[in-house]
Amino acid sequence: MEEIQPIEPETAPAATPTVKLKLRNVSMMFHGATQTVEALAPLDLEIMEGELVVFFGPSGCGKSTLLNLIAGFEQPSTGEITLDGEPVTKPGSDRLMMFQEHGLFPWLSVINNVTYGLKNRRRYRFRPWKQRAIAREWLKLMNLEEFEKTLIHELSGGMKQRVALARALAPDPHVLLVDEPFPALDALTKSKLYGDLQEILISRKKTIISVTHDPREAACLGDRILVFTPSPGRVQKEIRVELPRPRDINDPAIGEYAAQIMAELESQSDEKRQDTD
Ligand SMILES: Nc1ncnc2c1ncn2[C@@H]1O[C@H](COP(=O)(O)OP(=O)(O)O)[C@@H](O)[C@H]1O
Ligand SMILES: [Mg+2]
Repeated sequence: MEEIQPIEPETAPAATPTVKLKLRNVSMMFHGATQTVEALAPLDLEIMEGELVVFFGPSGCGKSTLLNLIAGFEQPSTGEITLDGEPVTKPGSDRLMMFQEHGLFPWLSVINNVTYGLKNRRRYRFRPWKQRAIAREWLKLMNLEEFEKTLIHELSGGMKQRVALARALAPDPHVLLVDEPFPALDALTKSKLYGDLQEILISRKKTIISVTHDPREAACLGDRILVFTPSPGRVQKEIRVELPRPRDINDPAIGEYAAQIMAELESQSDEKRQDTD
């Protein structure tokens, strides 16, 4: 019988960080019947392997648009996106988008939700025992091992979110894309999730892009935060968070970074106001 590869921390990171994703002159216009929206002004960006980058900003500033372009769901109006040097032209299993909890199948058990993403992978196809073994490892990492047979609709919001995370990570994507993943959860559940996510980060060295409009969430999760401003959507500022991990969302140092992020946004809207005076 074939050996199951256990989930193990990957080997030590390379001495020089490698560029995982490269965006050159990427922009996006949406052409409607009556008007054209410049969702994203031309943008250059490099994201390193193992980095967690947060796109932060108010709604309508192009965060989801940029995430969808990186996922390959849409093509940019100008410019090019490359992943490991290869152009991104369509969705691929190397980039996985984690949808909010409603992306789960409520009528399936926890474990069947997690194995769902593995069924069509060459390594796991027609090997249900192997799919289950991988799913169990991820459920264990998410502290959900006792709930594998539970149906999704029987779980709390925070547990559903952890199942969604396990499902997204089980196929072992190189890049994980998360769009506003933690909506409407209570403070305690959220702080637990941030802990879980960072644990995975440290142990698995995934490249992650996460979108949020919560400045504390941005400061807690991000190695680097890109502050977006709208009309047209663009990156106003980059902030590096130089705090050790795991970080606690309630740490005052996180609050200081959150204040800095908000100040960036406010200075931008002041400038706009002065322009229109
Ligand atoms: N498919 C679309 N068609 C037309 N306009 C769009 C489409 N998707 C997004 N937009 C517009 O592009 C801008 C940026 O949207 P989005 O990327 O969703 O912002 P965010 O995720 O930061 O809230 C908004 O003005 C939005 O209305
Ligand atoms: Mg959005």
